[in-house]
This record gives sequence, structure tokens and C-alpha cells, in this order.
Amino acid sequence: TDYSPTALDKAVAQLTSALESEKDSIQSEQEWKTLRDRWMARKNGILTQINDQWLKAAPADAKREVGQRVNALKLLIEDRVAKAFAQVDATDATGRIYLHGDIKGVRDSLRQKQTAKELPLDVTLPGIHRPVGARHPVLQAMHEIIAVFSAMGYSVEEGPEVETDYYNFEALNFPPDHPARDTQDTIFLAGQEKKPARERLLLRTHTSPVQIRTMQKHPPPVRVVCPGKVHRHDTPDASHSPLFHQVEGLAVDINITFCDLKGTLDHAMKALFGSSVKTRFYPSFFPFTEPSADVQISCPFCGGKGCRTCKQSGWIELLGCGMVDPKVFEFVRDNGYDPAKISGFAFGMGADRLAMLRYGIDDIQLLFQGDVRFLEQFA
Ligand code: PHE
Repeated sequence: TDYSPTALDKAVAQLTSALESEKDSIQSEQEWKTLRDRWMARKNGILTQINDQWLKAAPADAKREVGQRVNALKLLIEDRVAKAFAQVDATDATGRIYLHGDIKGVRDSLRQKQTAKELPLDVTLPGIHRPVGARHPVLQAMHEIIAVFSAMGYSVEEGPEVETDYYNFEALNFPPDHPARDTQDTIFLAGQEKKPARERLLLRTHTSPVQIRTMQKHPPPVRVVCPGKVHRHDTPDASHSPLFHQVEGLAVDINITFCDLKGTLDHAMKALFGSSVKTRFYPSFFPFTEPSADVQISCPFCGGKGCRTCKQSGWIELLGCGMVDPKVFEFVRDNGYDPAKISGFAFGMGADRLAMLRYGIDDIQLLFQGDVRFLEQFA
């Protein structure tokens, strides 16, 4: 009832000395909790009582004097309760063992963040296990291919997976309705029927459109490899997947010959599969290369004698390649690609095939199922 400054100061002094001596006697976490609740519990803690009985009850002309003191008390109580926690003995009432030293500092700072909430740090609990990931076998294969070619001076180019008909087919010398399109069963995007055919969007069926994009960007000479995802409307089985991966290669310069193509790919296959591997080129057809070839390597598993992997033939087919068709250069002639002056070769290999051969994987589906038991074997 007495709101004079002297009376208020006396009451504050009494509370302060009670708080100090209670704080000094705290030894266990249990005692600390009791102290905290006694002073700070929202319901009926001393701080709440002071607020109700002093401040709310004070007559209007005393509110200022009372308010200042109540605020100061509030800060003091919070500070002393926090300090009391740091004082709690290394072995607390619940029997958990805390380390001395730094841990106390850690607990103090946790305490400050969580004044009202309980968060003791128990350093004896086992840590959280975070398994280390591994590079996916397909990515690993793509990186190996890229490494072999970057050592020969190739750089890396990428292109979009959603492509236009123009880049995927037309500029690669697949005319509209040409039967060669049937060899790459294409997934078109819906709702594009009104667009001109060459702008129509599709999921790229090979990485060859990056050849055109690269030549539009850079005048000759170019040496690039282009890794990426490709899509075809295939029914999934052990050797087919509607999504798979290729690495494209393109080299254009003056005087590039079929010998350069053979030498480059022979070297690359030896670098990837071992120096005893032989390569074999035989005629094939792609609209964007002339002449075209498919490349086989002698089976790295049986050395060419014949086994299950090579279906007893001694050879495994790995990639398509050829000399860039002059008709393809016509589409990028503006950028310095005059087929009378320059020549080049291109190739495309399946990264999934390569990964399966390298790691002895017999089902392509395993690569896309995301089963950790399979994937962790490549860690
Ligand atoms: N793009 C062809 C395919 O996917 C492979 C290839 C690339 C052939 C480059 C020749 C030159 O079948």
C-alpha cells in the first residue's frame, strides 16, 4: 500500500537479497528448476506476483516509480536464474554426466536462447549418423568419359533436354517424315500442335542437337563433349529405359579425316577399358554423318574368346560415329562452317551401357530405381 520511493526501494532490496542467496545455493539441475519456477513461473511466480500486486494495483500517479523498479527486477531475476544454471554441478540430480569447461559455456548460450524452455545438452548420447553418399554409377561413367576427352583438349557443352524438332532432327538432316526418325521413337510435348513443325517441343532423343547449338555459338575449330539425359518412347526392360544417358563428341577443324576419328576413338576405348582392348568400325547410317560407322570393342571380359556378356561374339557394340555430313554444316554456314574448307567428326556413346560394362551391372533398370542397397555399393 505504500508507494513512496523509500518503501519501494526497501521492498526491492529485500527481494534482491533473497534472490542472491537462493541463487548461490543452487547445486543440481533439480534445484535449479525449482528456483526458476519459484521466480519465473508465469502462473504465481514471484515476478508475476510483483507485476500483479505492485504494478497493476498501483494508483495512477505511482505507476511510473513502480514500473521502473519492476522492470529492473525482471531483468535481475532473469539474469540470476540464468547464472544459477551455469553453477549446476557437473553431475546433476538426474544422474547424467556433464563435462566441465566448454560444455558449460555451450549450455549457457543455449540457456540464453531458451530462457523458458528446457534444453540440457547430454554429450554422452550417440551422435546423429549421417551416411556418406556416393556418385551415381552413370555420373561416374560420364565423368570418366569426359576426363579422357578433356585430356585431349575437348571442352564440355550442354544443351536442353526439352528440345525443338529443329535441333533434334531438322538441322541434323532428318527431313520431315524421313524414315530415319522412326529409329528414335520420340516423345513430343502435348499442346504444341499449332506450332510450326520446327518449333515443336520434344524430349531430345539423343545429345546430337548439342552439335548444332555448339556450332551456332562457336566458330571453328571446336572440340567438345556433351553429356546428358536423353529420352525415347521405349518399353523398359533389362536393356531398355525410356530415359538414358549419352556423351556426344564433336571435333571440327581444317583437315580432319576419318583417320583422326578412328585414332581418337581407339585411344578413348583403350583409356576406358584397358590398353589390350581392340576397336572395330563397320558401316552404319546416320543422317547427320557421312560416312557413318558403329564401333565395337573386343570384349573386355573374355578378351574376345566369347562369353555371356558379348553373347559369344567376342565383340561389344558401344557407339555410333561418322564424319559430319556437309548438309549439317550448311545449317551453321553463317558461323564459319563452310563445308568446302572444314571437316569434322562426331560420335555418340551410351553412358549407361558403359557403366553397366564397367561395373558388371546386368539390368539397366537398377540404375534408375534409387535403391540404396544397390547405390551404396559404389561408395
Ligand atoms: N545420335 C546418335 C544416336 O543416338 C549417335 C551418333 C552421334 C552417331 C554422333 C553419329 C554421330 O544414335
